[in-house]
Amino acid sequence: VDLSARNTLGVTAHADYWADITDRTQIPELVDWAQARSLPVRVLGGGSNLVMAPRIRGLVLGMNLRGRQRLDSSDGRLEHWRFQAGENWHECVRFSVEQGLSGLENLALIPGQAGAAPIQNIGAYGVELSDVLVAVDAFDTVEGRWVRFASKDCDFAYRDSRFKQASNRYIITSIDLELSRDFHPVLDYGPLQSLKNRDDLTPWTVMDTVISVRQSKLPDPGDIPNAGSFFKNPLVSEEVYRSLKQRWPELVAYPSGAAWKLAAGWLIDQCGLKGQANASGVGCYDKQALVVVNPRRADGSEILDWQRHVQSEVESTFGVRLEREPRLWNGS
Ligand code: EPU
Repeated sequence: VDLSARNTLGVTAHADYWADITDRTQIPELVDWAQARSLPVRVLGGGSNLVMAPRIRGLVLGMNLRGRQRLDSSDGRLEHWRFQAGENWHECVRFSVEQGLSGLENLALIPGQAGAAPIQNIGAYGVELSDVLVAVDAFDTVEGRWVRFASKDCDFAYRDSRFKQASNRYIITSIDLELSRDFHPVLDYGPLQSLKNRDDLTPWTVMDTVISVRQSKLPDPGDIPNAGSFFKNPLVSEEVYRSLKQRWPELVAYPSGAAWKLAAGWLIDQCGLKGQANASGVGCYDKQALVVVNPRRADGSEILDWQRHVQSEVESTFGVRLEREPRLWNGS
């Protein structure tokens, strides 16, 4: 099965076996089938946070579970909503804003599906999924049973969760979120701060502003293949932060608990890599150095070559190691 059109980095890839999941009851049987043949099972949603090898061994499940429901556990102005894993994330955000609910407006226009959102704990403009997530339902392919994790058991951290750590173990089928009829805007991120003086502010305004900020900085994968931020913003100690700041007073960093989060885009930019590319055209986007773009649809190994190049430039200049953000689907 050709996955080339099913990953936003536009990498050429083929999977040995494919099944379309439209009903959750299909899952245990398909997992049994693959395990009896010692084949790995992977779930493909929007394919927007993946670097694929040319050949993907085993079974790929195309996640197509659809539906959004309000749950009975809703309480007054706080409503619990269940989004099935195959729902498009941005459509869920728009739907929630249309319902007059607040909580997701800062997470507008993030590519991918609802079921993938907890894996890397998607976050943008001051909000992370973990701020609104109540529970995740999944099939555990190791124990062979259905499981439900409350938010506190998901090991959420910056761009991280138990689902990302236990790579491919859990097949997420739905997520439950707590959304609010009351509007508590989160406007701390630079370009949103100007909204603070508006007295007619609604979740719509915030969503529209987020959409225009994203469109001005981030390439649309439909135009230029990419997987969003390609590296995490590295966390460093106070000591490391101070010595870097002394040497580079322009360093962009944000306090994060006892540590500091450095803007990886700034580090890459300072190395002169913004707008640069390798011979296959894989490079750093010219408006946001943190985004790796693949305009000529080079394969996964070229992407990883560029990753290593960026890592080594940043490490030799700043002594800081950048970690890849998208997950790797290697051949085995
Ligand atoms: N910067 C540069 N040059 C660049 C890029 C950035 O100097 O080429 C500096 C600027 O000073 C800028 C700062 O870095 O103010 C931060 O950049 P930006 O606001 O674009 O955010 P980011 O830290 O690069 C993170 C997330 C994004 C998310 C934005 C907004 C990660 C890995 N990325 O990017 O998430 O949209 O914040 O909250 O945490 C994604 O995960 O795919 C993603 C797009």
